[in-house]
Amino acid sequence: MAVALVTGASSGIGEATAIRLSREPGAELVLVARREERLRELAESLPCRATYVAVDLTDENAPQRVRQHLEAEHRGELHLLVNNAGNAWRAGFAEGGFANVQRHMELNFDAPVRLTEALLPLLRASGPSAIVNVASTAGRVSRARTGSYSASKFALIGWSDSLYTEEKPYGVHIGLVLPGFIQTESFPATELREKALTRWIVSKPPKVAEAIFECGPGRKPERYVPRPYALAAHARILFPSLTRRVLSGGAASSLTTSTGEE
Ligand SMILES: NC(=O)c1ccc[n+]([C@@H]2O[C@H](COP(=O)([O-])OP(=O)(O)OC[C@H]3O[C@@H](n4cnc5c(N)ncnc54)[C@H](OP(=O)(O)O)[C@@H]3O)[C@@H](O)[C@H]2O)c1
Repeated sequence: MAVALVTGASSGIGEATAIRLSREPGAELVLVARREERLRELAESLPCRATYVAVDLTDENAPQRVRQHLEAEHRGELHLLVNNAGNAWRAGFAEGGFANVQRHMELNFDAPVRLTEALLPLLRASGPSAIVNVASTAGRVSRARTGSYSASKFALIGWSDSLYTEEKPYGVHIGLVLPGFIQTESFPATELREKALTRWIVSKPPKVAEAIFECGPGRKPERYVPRPYALAAHARILFPSLTRRVLSGGAASSLTTSTGEE
């Protein structure tokens, strides 16, 4: 591993991933998010060379700015791209409508696709290299009020599987990480952590960071974090009626947590 770029590195899973990657011999990191002060502090605290780009990834020129930074500061090399930045804004479709779908798609799908398009030539030239797309268990199973978020993550997963096949001959591995409930700023999971019955299902960012390492440099195809969340995805495929019934029942409403923005 050498040059690794992590989006959404100013907090949560991205920050934990940067810390995890910085322990690898010869690592050079590029941290990307909007909050510059956070990125600067993290870059200065890491034990390896780390630079940063403070940018809104939904901006038109964001991919080009990141590429220019890699060319100017890291010899145009890129061995690992972690597409992690993302967010969720809860709303039923009748209230949020297309505007909420579009908002999710712009950040959780369009932004990683546009960034990958700009950086793919560098990844190919630096091969063997890898991309890890941080999707979600919600990209396999939808719950009430998370339809827009799920749609963006379903899209990211579908695109990733295809890209894996296309880029294999060029030495660019595509890994997928599908977190469940992980306590972070955008996803505090407060409702679950308050109850003894559900507290145990909430995990921590370093666990996801380890999975990102496995699916990037470790070249695994995908990882659920925690692993048992895979059962929900299997149930959706094998028992669709049962899964829908369970997820529209009363107990399932406790699984739709509020987001940090709420
Ligand atoms: N935590 C969970 O339960 C969970 C579960 C499944 C999937 N995920 C996924 O994990 C990823 C990371 O989320 P997290 O839980 O670590 O939340 P988080 O701590 O809030 O981190 C989100 C990161 O994305 C960045 N970001 C948001 N909007 C951006 C924009 N327009 N341009 C650039 N950067 C932006 C944020 O930085 P700035 O605000 O500084 O820009 C922040 O660094 C997301 O893709 C999320 O969907 C999380």
